[in-house]
Amino acid sequence: MKFTAKIPNSILVVASLLLTVLVAETTAQTGQTFRLDGGNSTYAFGVDERGELQPIYWGGRLGAHDTMPVPHSLPEWSSFDSPNTTTPQEYAGWGGGLFTEPALKVSFADGNRDLILHFVKADASGSQSAEVLLKDISREIYVTLRYAMDADTGILARSASIENKEKQPVMIEQAAAAQWTLPPGRYTLNYLTGRWAGEWTLNQELIEGAARVLESRRGTTGHQVNPWFAISREAGRDNASAADEEHGEVWFGALAWSGSWRITVDRTQFDAVRVTGGFNPFDFGYKLKPGEHLETPVFYGGYSADGLGGASRLLHRFEVAKILPQAPDPKPRPVIYNSWEATEFKVDEAGQMALAEKAASIGVDRFVMDDGWFGQRKDDHAGLGDWYVNPQKFPHGLKPLIDKVHSLGMDFGLWVEPEMVNPDSDLYRKHPDWVLNFLGRPRSEQRNQLVLNLARSDVRDYVEGFLDKLLTENDIAFLKWDYNRNWSEPGWDQIPADEQREVYVQFIRNLYSILGELRQKHPRIEIESCSGGGGRVDLGILRYTDEVWPSDNTDPFDRISMQDGFSYAYAPQIMMAWVTDSPHWLNGRNTTLTYRILSSMQGSLGIGANLNHWSPEDFATAKRLIAAYHAAQRTIVRGSLYRLISPRDGSEFSATETVASDKNQAVVFAFGNATTEGRGFPLLKLEGLDRDAEYKLSWIEGKARTGTPASASGAWWMRHGIQLDLRGDFQGAAFRLDR
Ligand code: GLA
Repeated sequence: MKFTAKIPNSILVVASLLLTVLVAETTAQTGQTFRLDGGNSTYAFGVDERGELQPIYWGGRLGAHDTMPVPHSLPEWSSFDSPNTTTPQEYAGWGGGLFTEPALKVSFADGNRDLILHFVKADASGSQSAEVLLKDISREIYVTLRYAMDADTGILARSASIENKEKQPVMIEQAAAAQWTLPPGRYTLNYLTGRWAGEWTLNQELIEGAARVLESRRGTTGHQVNPWFAISREAGRDNASAADEEHGEVWFGALAWSGSWRITVDRTQFDAVRVTGGFNPFDFGYKLKPGEHLETPVFYGGYSADGLGGASRLLHRFEVAKILPQAPDPKPRPVIYNSWEATEFKVDEAGQMALAEKAASIGVDRFVMDDGWFGQRKDDHAGLGDWYVNPQKFPHGLKPLIDKVHSLGMDFGLWVEPEMVNPDSDLYRKHPDWVLNFLGRPRSEQRNQLVLNLARSDVRDYVEGFLDKLLTENDIAFLKWDYNRNWSEPGWDQIPADEQREVYVQFIRNLYSILGELRQKHPRIEIESCSGGGGRVDLGILRYTDEVWPSDNTDPFDRISMQDGFSYAYAPQIMMAWVTDSPHWLNGRNTTLTYRILSSMQGSLGIGANLNHWSPEDFATAKRLIAAYHAAQRTIVRGSLYRLISPRDGSEFSATETVASDKNQAVVFAFGNATTEGRGFPLLKLEGLDRDAEYKLSWIEGKARTGTPASASGAWWMRHGIQLDLRGDFQGAAFRLDR
């Protein structure tokens, strides 16, 4: 963090007058500017003449010696447009006539609700981090803004800590992690929406006037909208050109929070675009007692000059190197077998052992037993909460199965759903007060289950306790951590009424602390975040989990589009993708095993089919393709991803390419989902290779038209391109280029 010397007030006043800026007040700190640099981006902010902290610049990296202009508050445009509203702030309190989205809104004990945050001081070391202290103009409310710039990707981590030094409690009604301000311009908002079995749809719409709200009110991240955005430049009256997949300016962000969240994208009446994100203010209320502070989640933001593709490559690199629990070099995900679609709740020792033998024979690394192994779990009506091994299904405990799995050269994983309880369980009969509920009101069940109130410390300790015991007593390498409903009636009646809404914060804090402590006590454990598919995927949970389950929809054709959507925000490394049976249970679609495996090979591969129904040819196909996957896995899941042909908007074709960081290898997957009028697969021009190096072509599956060279320069593959011979419905091809 560099900051310029204080500019004499006299100069400022002259400058302000020249700019016809109304100078309301000149504080001692006026004129300080701060600058953060990382990767190819620069972020700068400063203190204006009113003492407010204002954004100055966010975009491509500036020259090392460029000085930042001192920010000024805007003049009153009309009696309806006060400077508080028109002047952007880094973290605006609701007060003094702010009509746009505030970062912080509070209610004091005496009824005052006016909050105006001014700069106090900054702690700045180097050019990559800063802590800035703000304070209300009269009350003892302090906000520390934290900035940490990633030197490699230029992704900036922002969060706030709100502290009450008043003598009375203060109710926090709204608290953002950060507010981001974009340069003037026309923009398109990109965001991801979905539903159960239909996650990861990319939406793109012009940012017109008024606000657009992305949010979850469900107590969890949610399938419906993901806490990620990308804002891409549109051509406007300025000389900017529109951003696309590989070119142009894109600003993006991701909120690291697994509870109710909100991101508001505002286009103000002066066409300024601002993004505010943090705790969802809906039903929010956090009583901050004297001396206490509230930490917000972290809101990450980044900038790319290389289009949406460049933006997602930066995010992928950042997630893998800085977010995941095994960062900076997480292990490639083992190829798993999961029992769910084969046996559902009907798991037992002999059946699972038989599946394990078959899984091992095709090169699977990890055998995972899904739901059904515990309590009185015959179906989804009973058992959640009772985490003892079912003695009828596993009379000798889990050990014989785990030993068998180990003897086959695989490690063992297990499904759990720790935050839930079925009313038909010993746990609920003993502790009916442990679930989220409003006293005397109905308790709505979803999938016959209720949500445990993890915000309570006794519930938190119970959950950590049974998981710790399970991991201590059994040689378990992996947990698939599920979460199969959203909140309803989120009451916490055992504490004072004005503290009960803290459940929105405390539940998630306890979830993170359980995950953190389990990982500390059992350093070998790896965890998957699953929530009926992709209902809990965000950068908060990814600090504690190694992978996610993107969707319960495993249809290979649907998955190609979902995986495409997923890849805008999240890395292939964390994206589990299973091969399941055909016709598919969800839509009845028939596909070949080869097509199903190729579709799943775009991420971290798993097999979830009923191997008891496979033919010898199926086993041979799977064995061959899993071996090919293992050989190129690092490039596939850790390389730079190029979305060559998008499957969106009903496209008949799609293709992706990943390039290893040393550019020694590239892997391409191509899918033709319907051939119309005999047209062939479009000419594929590759990206990201070393243009002068020679690359040898080898096929994982499929072929090219005759005349394709066996080896050619990077320039040839990128400029001339390759013509695949891929026709028919639901066909896939994959090949490697090796330097
Ligand atoms: C959820 C998961 C599935 C499976 C079932 C088990 O739906 O997403 O993969 O684990 O629960 O009940």
